[in-house]
Amino acid sequence: MAGTAGKVIRCKAAVAWEAGKPLVIEEVEVAPPQASEVRLKILFTSLCHTDVYFWEAKGQNPLFPRIYGHEAGGIVESVGEGVTDLKPGDHVLPVFTGECKDCAHCKSEESNMCSLLRINTDRGVMLNDGKSRFSIKGKPIYHFVGTSTFSEYTVVHVGCLAKINPLAPLDKVCVLSCGISTGLGATLNVAKPPKGSTVAIFGLGAVGLAAAEGARIAGASRIIGVDVNSNRFEEAKKFGVTEFVNPQHHNKPVQEVIAEMTDGGVDRSVECTGNVDAMISAFECVHDGWGVAVLVGVPHKEAVFKTHPINVLNERTLKGTFFGNYKPRTDLPSVVEKYMNKELELEKFITHSVPFSKINEAFELMLKAESLRCIIRME
Ligand SMILES: NC(=O)c1ccc[n+]([C@@H]2O[C@H](COP(=O)([O-])OP(=O)(O)OC[C@H]3O[C@@H](n4cnc5c(N)ncnc54)[C@H](O)[C@@H]3O)[C@@H](O)[C@H]2O)c1
Ligand SMILES: [Zn+2]
Ligand SMILES: [Zn+2]
Repeated sequence: MAGTAGKVIRCKAAVAWEAGKPLVIEEVEVAPPQASEVRLKILFTSLCHTDVYFWEAKGQNPLFPRIYGHEAGGIVESVGEGVTDLKPGDHVLPVFTGECKDCAHCKSEESNMCSLLRINTDRGVMLNDGKSRFSIKGKPIYHFVGTSTFSEYTVVHVGCLAKINPLAPLDKVCVLSCGISTGLGATLNVAKPPKGSTVAIFGLGAVGLAAAEGARIAGASRIIGVDVNSNRFEEAKKFGVTEFVNPQHHNKPVQEVIAEMTDGGVDRSVECTGNVDAMISAFECVHDGWGVAVLVGVPHKEAVFKTHPINVLNERTLKGTFFGNYKPRTDLPSVVEKYMNKELELEKFITHSVPFSKINEAFELMLKAESLRCIIRME
């Protein structure tokens, strides 16, 4: 690999030329990393809803041609000027949000919302020079959330790379680079259910099931899964979900159904749907006096959260979280260790796997809600 440092690399990338149209595998040129940047070889990447959402480009500024992808595992090929934390050969997880280690957020123990490297879905270029590192015959191709992992090689800011245990299998731990860490951290870092408590999880997609996995790890005794799609219930049993509620099967609000099941409400709830009504239910179903609700889902722009203030006065807490409150560089390596120690199970999230040439099949599976995570193998 040393032979490629400082040179343009030609490799394959899946390029989105237009919104909603199948990606096309193209030969692209990947420029060397500049100051504070790292070029890495992607070995495995997986598809997350955020990729599909921006590829469909409904209601956002479309930015094409673009290389999507943000959940991945790779190996450092070369580093730019000033990069001392990483060297060629290091195993890394790229993350859509970064940690500069220098801003007020990075210095705060309570925040992971770095001012410099916080997710930016509109920017399709590198911070350094406002340019793309990808091109086809000299024509630039835009980046996506600073990661663009649907490419054999990509360039990422060093602050968006977590250096992990080189023994960790990248085809498994790559799913920790977005959705699974988000749900897991929402429970373990934010909801913090005490051992033996009752936890409700709204939305049983990959993020919600990761939140359930967090509840299982924390030792919750009852985990109530809430979803409008009952097809999710069978799979959710593998994640420790003990009871199921489909709000559409009841003629009263789901928060009342849950209050009856739990003698007044759950101890913790984690919302992973993105639906504002589910967010309100997730808050109103927690027990007064101590209940904590955590919002994870990303709502529509116009959505408004409404609840009677008495619900808060009665000592319920409402919280929200971004990337499960994990600081990417500081905290992700230890999440990988949880997997290595067999505390955390990842295999059950990986329902499908396809070679890079069939990346469009991963999109189809996600659109049909048939997959939790589909691993895309680059080699
Ligand atoms: N905060 C963060 O940092 C962060 C990071 C990643 C993803 N997310 C968000 O998390 C959410 C979940 O992501 P996912 O990939 O698991 O999505 P998903 O679509 O796979 O799962 C969502 C589930 O919610 C269910 N659902 C929808 N409306 C519902 C309702 N009213 N009541 C009950 N269930 C309902 C759906 O049937 C589905 O099973 C999304 O909104 C996503 O944007 C947030
Ligand atoms: Zn994601
Ligand atoms: Zn920062």
